[in-house]
Amino acid sequence: MSRIFQPLTLRSVTFKNRIAMAPMLMYTGQEDGKVNDLHLAHYAARALGGVGLITTEVVAVEPAGRISHTDLGIWDEAQVAGLRRLAEMIAACGAKSCLQLAHAGRKSMVDGAIFAPSAIAHSAQHRTPQVLTIEQVQAVVRAFERAAERAIETGFDCLEIHAAHGYLIHEFLSPLSNRRDDGYGGSPENRNRLLVEVVTAVRRAWPEDKPLIVRLSADDMAGEGGNTVTQTTRLGYVLKALGVDLLSVSAGGLTPVFHGEIVPGYQVEFAAQLRQGLELPVGCNGSITSSELVEAVLYSQSADLVYMGRELLRNPFWLLNVARAAGVEPPLAIPTYARATGPYERGH
Ligand SMILES: Cc1cc2nc3c(=O)[nH]c(=O)nc-3n(C[C@H](O)[C@H](O)[C@H](O)COP(=O)(O)O)c2cc1C
Repeated sequence: MSRIFQPLTLRSVTFKNRIAMAPMLMYTGQEDGKVNDLHLAHYAARALGGVGLITTEVVAVEPAGRISHTDLGIWDEAQVAGLRRLAEMIAACGAKSCLQLAHAGRKSMVDGAIFAPSAIAHSAQHRTPQVLTIEQVQAVVRAFERAAERAIETGFDCLEIHAAHGYLIHEFLSPLSNRRDDGYGGSPENRNRLLVEVVTAVRRAWPEDKPLIVRLSADDMAGEGGNTVTQTTRLGYVLKALGVDLLSVSAGGLTPVFHGEIVPGYQVEFAAQLRQGLELPVGCNGSITSSELVEAVLYSQSADLVYMGRELLRNPFWLLNVARAAGVEPPLAIPTYARATGPYERGH
């Protein structure tokens, strides 16, 4: 009995199966941060392939929070129409949609000043960031809140806050990148404060019936002194109480070196630990490319949802092949695709 094709409901939104497309920055945008035809085609192809949930790439809440000049943005009202078109396109192609809100912090490669909790560069290739003042930190919280308000107009089904992979919010969470001695640094409670304030503001703005997802690096995987799943579980309790519906569990990204082995499903154990500790739905991710591994993850209740990244770049129709092998006829926006999953019927 395949578990991949079982639906998952978060608040009022039901994903038709347990496969989600992981957020992946495609570097296909322009300086204006607006959705263009390539974005539409790229996401539509994966949605037509039958996955339950499409997560966008990073969508920056302010210009200085972009990873690159080609990022999408939601800092301006003029960016809403394109995002609305994208959400409509994903819906027409049969998937639910999730918009990933992000601020790149010290990993930003855009011109001009870049910002972080402390003046520590991400790597030798990155510039040293300016330290955010308390007023500037609070402006970041407002930027996320405004972005969530605009996201309502876009019609996306879910909102995700990117708090992983060494971007701004993660930089605050980790003692390795946060050396502040004010209310946003020092104790875990203080380091968590930016994320807590962002989640509180976004949850307040975002409709009650729509899910809010937070992406976390469960373990910094950056060697001595970084956060581990123990600290992340404590943070998870706080996020659950604030109304977060699912944790998208990843790891690392805080430093250029990943202190661990990358094997199929290498981050599943983090998801399983968080899920068990928190009794909160989790998504897992990382080098998951086979349906057998997905089934094992779901069967062992290690995760509720499996995010796939690069496999869906290689093969947008991965899930159709899985359905064919499993003898399942999944609901598809173009039902005729099912003719490719069963035995060939002569006719045309
Ligand atoms: C080209 C590329 C762009 C990515 N961009 C993002 C991003 O915008 N936001 C994010 O949270 N993760 C991003 N990631 C990480 C992926 O979401 C995912 O965690 C990673 O690729 C591992 O999963 P996979 O082995 O299934 O590809 C990116 C990964 C790739 C390969």
